[in-house]
Amino acid sequence: MNEYDSDRIINSLSAHPVKEPSDADIIIVNTCAIREKADHKAVSAVGKYKKLKIKNPDLIIGMAGCVAQLYGKKLIKQIPHLDFVIGPREIPKLRDLIFDIKEGSGHRRINTSMDIEEVFKVSPYHEAGKVNGFVSIQQGCNKKCAYCIVPTVRGNEINRSLKEILEESRLLINQGAKELTYIGQTVNSWKYEGEKFYNLLNHLQELDGLERIRFTTSFPRDVTSKMVDSMRNNSKVCRQLHLPVQSGSNRVLKQMNRAYSIEWYRDSINRLRDAMPDLSLSTDIIVGFGDESNEDFDETMKLIEDVKFDTVYSFKYSIRPGTPGETMSSHIDDDIALDRLHRLQSRQREISLENNLKQLNKSYKVLIENASRNNPKELFGRTSQNKAIYIKDLNKKYIGKIVDITKIEAFQNSFIGEPT
Ligand code: 5AD
Repeated sequence: MNEYDSDRIINSLSAHPVKEPSDADIIIVNTCAIREKADHKAVSAVGKYKKLKIKNPDLIIGMAGCVAQLYGKKLIKQIPHLDFVIGPREIPKLRDLIFDIKEGSGHRRINTSMDIEEVFKVSPYHEAGKVNGFVSIQQGCNKKCAYCIVPTVRGNEINRSLKEILEESRLLINQGAKELTYIGQTVNSWKYEGEKFYNLLNHLQELDGLERIRFTTSFPRDVTSKMVDSMRNNSKVCRQLHLPVQSGSNRVLKQMNRAYSIEWYRDSINRLRDAMPDLSLSTDIIVGFGDESNEDFDETMKLIEDVKFDTVYSFKYSIRPGTPGETMSSHIDDDIALDRLHRLQSRQREISLENNLKQLNKSYKVLIENASRNNPKELFGRTSQNKAIYIKDLNKKYIGKIVDITKIEAFQNSFIGEPT
């Protein structure tokens, strides 16, 4: 989501990104507020550019994104070299804002309004020939998860029209994209004028020149049978689903206000796997929420043991300002939460590797994305299951093509492969 917003920021300014901050006329730090650590990082990132501003007083420095939205005024007070803050919904106004500053009224700006009608107006910058891209289909979130700051900083759910989604898709395809990832906070809750998410997949399947469709993040309650059928029946939809569960315990799920039971979640996984046996599943888990007991945590461990996700993104609960979680009376010890997090992560590392080892010496369709960053002699690509794979002995002319690749070496998060 933030990568997409950064690309919209670049495009809205018709700017050419430079590699070195010291070469820039404008520096905008795009930020995330999902956990406390992320918002600390944001403030220190802006701090780094103070020296450049002293050297070059014409340099414009801004902060965008959810931290900007959350602490707007406070940041402007606290950081004298910050010229403006702008929230995620105001990106379409950024261009005018910069012109205003350049005209030199001298005021520092706080743009954190939530009442912007045209939230989708600006499309992202897309490097010519880049094989993959993002298309936002939804802004904000209507779920009320007790731990989560997203509704506060990104506002209520707004769904993008089918017409605009198709237009932006075509734009990226014309610029060379072969694979598009459709994004929203609860992407599968998308609906617009009678169309639902499963219909949207049917429409996207029809886009000429598009080879692969991904989407993220899905909300478990909104995985319907029609959505499962649509994923299975549309050949461009990748065999990958990110389905955050957050906890394996019904008691904790209830406190989190997740609106499903763990039985429901497990049943959805079974339905998805029955329909698509080669589906790769990933999830998000928060440990230490509320008064999570040892028994609650054991249920989360049991879930990852049973489901065998390919990837689990796991986090220690971080209290966020203005969320229902902030006022909950019970919070468990930091040490205990950290110990649980480490246990979960260490078991999951084994499971991820075990899953990957089972795929050795088999051939997969890989979309070749680019030359590998670490070893320019290797190419990099992904399978439909979103597995990263580094390929030896393949000509660069295959970038942008789907090639049969045999996996010859497996790691926890990637593979080495060769043409089949
Ligand atoms: N503390 C820790 N993790 C959080 N997440 C969201 N809010 C919090 C929080 N307050 C995690 C959830 C979500 C992912 C994007 O970040 O697991 O799915």
